[in-house]
Amino acid sequence: MEIIIQPDSRHASAVAAKIVANLVREKPHAVLGFATGQTPLEMYRVLVEMHHKEGLDFSQNTAFNLDEYVGLPPGHPGSYHSYMREHLFRHINIPASRVNIPDGRAADIPACCLDYEERIHTAGGIDIQILGIGTDGHLGFNEPTSSLASRTRIKTLTAGTRRDNAALFGGEDNVPHHVITMGLGTIMDCRVCLLLAFGKKKAQAVAAAVEGPLTAMIPASVLQMHPRAIFVLDEDAASHLTRADYYKWVYENKPDWQKY
Ligand code: F6R
Repeated sequence: MEIIIQPDSRHASAVAAKIVANLVREKPHAVLGFATGQTPLEMYRVLVEMHHKEGLDFSQNTAFNLDEYVGLPPGHPGSYHSYMREHLFRHINIPASRVNIPDGRAADIPACCLDYEERIHTAGGIDIQILGIGTDGHLGFNEPTSSLASRTRIKTLTAGTRRDNAALFGGEDNVPHHVITMGLGTIMDCRVCLLLAFGKKKAQAVAAAVEGPLTAMIPASVLQMHPRAIFVLDEDAASHLTRADYYKWVYENKPDWQKY
């Protein structure tokens, strides 16, 4: 695991955007995996800025999102279809035909999940998957006790996750109970996993995922088994790590050829 600790979320988002932009430049057909939530917003803003000011070109990329609520129409303000359109897709030149987000209104959810897995496979697999982390250590919407080998499927949110996501629904009671999410096995198949976490409220989950035991109780700990997992943190989210000084030294002393 590579742990990058930055002074604040703005600097951390800039590093994460650079990692994504480098890949898009090196591999124009790269398959990009996106996440939603508060955490990646600034990184998306920087990518949009790079598109406008530096000509960062997404015209050949394919996108897959991690998850979507079950039962929400794509136009619902709380849906991840709306989120991605609003914060990224309408500002860049990725073709709509190559944007994939689970269909929360599918009549046959198991078939829709199987189809999603097949689409990822047909696209050649995901080159980089952006990830956040839940306060309970969830990855995508794989809540604690999710199988570490799970594939895209329906999951039931915990009360804590529904509370954390209440803002766009006008209250916790309106947050759907069910979601479609890539599984932990699906995420582990991605070539690079880029996890962002900011703020004190993520510190415990980050420390458990990075330095704790590998356990389904902290789904993000599965990334300990990933050959190319990068955590980009602000100081607050890193504040419970026991080896923070070591991670900082490693990052600051990377050989030039390894730098982002
Ligand atoms: C979002 C997702 C979730 C979030 C996590 C953190 O697509 O899959 O795992 O990344 O809940 O959410 P924020 O960033 O809002 O704290």
